[in-house]
Amino acid sequence: MKHLLAGILAALGLAGAATAEDAQNGEALFQSHCAVCHGLGARGDGPMATVLLIKPPDLTQLTARNGGVYPIARIVMRIDGRDPLVSHGSPMPVYGPFFDVDFVPLKAETGQPIMTSTPVSDLLAYLRGVQE
Ligand code: HEC
Repeated sequence: MKHLLAGILAALGLAGAATAEDAQNGEALFQSHCAVCHGLGARGDGPMATVLLIKPPDLTQLTARNGGVYPIARIVMRIDGRDPLVSHGSPMPVYGPFFDVDFVPLKAETGQPIMTSTPVSDLLAYLRGVQE
């Protein structure tokens, strides 16, 4: 019965749809939208990295480079374009409008809420899981 229900939910594309942070979906999004530059394992070694003027950072080191704190607010703002890396002469695409589908409140490392979308929150969950 449980399997049947899971099968029906999966067929409808609803499995996991309502969860706040879906790292698996985040990984899928990462591989289709980010890995070309950041690499399949988020280490900054994607196929495009060699032709970029500014090297994509190793995203497994976000926490390590931030004194052991996962920098949620900074990552959200760099993905959705609120902190536009492009204006620093960077090839980082602005994903804000692309991921502008709904509103999800995340708790920033400071404890303050920060609004983002489900895809960005899923990406954050995936990236949290690859921190070293
Ligand atoms: C066209 C190549 C490219 C793609 C595609 C790309 N990035 Fe980036 N990303 C970069 C580069 C280059 C930088 C460094 C920019 C800089 O430092 O100015 C960067 C920076 C970042 C940072 C900031 C890291 C820090 O230390 O603050 C994050 C987070 C990030 N990218 C996440 C993503 C995510 C998530 C995606 C997919 C939605 C993505 N990137 C897609 C090239 C890319």
